[in-house]
Amino acid sequence: MSYYKMPILDDSGFVVVDSYDQASDPSEWLDIEYVDWKSSGDTRFSPLASAYGDLECDGFWNHTPPKTDKDGVWVDANVAKSPRLVARAQEPGVNIGRCRVIELQPNSYADAIHNLHIDDNNRLNPDGTGWIVRSFFNLTDDQDSVMILREDKNDPATETRVPLPAGTQAVIDTQRLYHAVWHPGDQPRYCLITSWESAPGLEEWIAARNPKTRVESPTVPEGELAEAQRRAAERAKAEQVPEVMSEA
Ligand SMILES: [Fe+2]
Repeated sequence: MSYYKMPILDDSGFVVVDSYDQASDPSEWLDIEYVDWKSSGDTRFSPLASAYGDLECDGFWNHTPPKTDKDGVWVDANVAKSPRLVARAQEPGVNIGRCRVIELQPNSYADAIHNLHIDDNNRLNPDGTGWIVRSFFNLTDDQDSVMILREDKNDPATETRVPLPAGTQAVIDTQRLYHAVWHPGDQPRYCLITSWESAPGLEEWIAARNPKTRVESPTVPEGELAEAQRRAAERAKAEQVPEVMSEA
């Protein structure tokens, strides 16, 4: 399969651009309607665009008829309350698939490592079209939180931690990079996540906002690291048990 991919993502799989701080305007994400949708931790989601405009968050391929993660249909009730979020998602002028606000409850670094996953953004995406990537617009001011990105899920040496103060904007190839957020606060974190089709309009949008494909990762305290290592070892051990049993 060959898709159009944006060269700016070749380096690290992500790009951070200039911030857009909307934290003084929280009604746009607090007054919309959320549905329970478990994904990488204790989460709820509020869809602004879904497969067919309903208030639900299932992958577009799980509908009848199934579709790829493009041509999202706006969810009227939510969109009416979040015009600025919608305008921000539309700003590059590229095809939009899933567009929703995630609410994430506080977690630990070990939880986040456990939650690392890649997305299935390009299922059913026709050959020759643009590779679907995702934008993350951090809405709340989460000074101590980070988006954890890894090329290899089990290799901490491949890890980047992108700090998430209010307004942080990143575009990530989440089908390439394992990702999850470590959010040590005491309040939920809110973030707008949009599926965008790679296209020249998106490259121009990125280029106009001081793109950075490398960032300085904040240090993780020793205790958090040790707990994550302990749980990773526990998981590895648990995964070995069925193999041993099958040999018996
Ligand atoms: Fe994801």
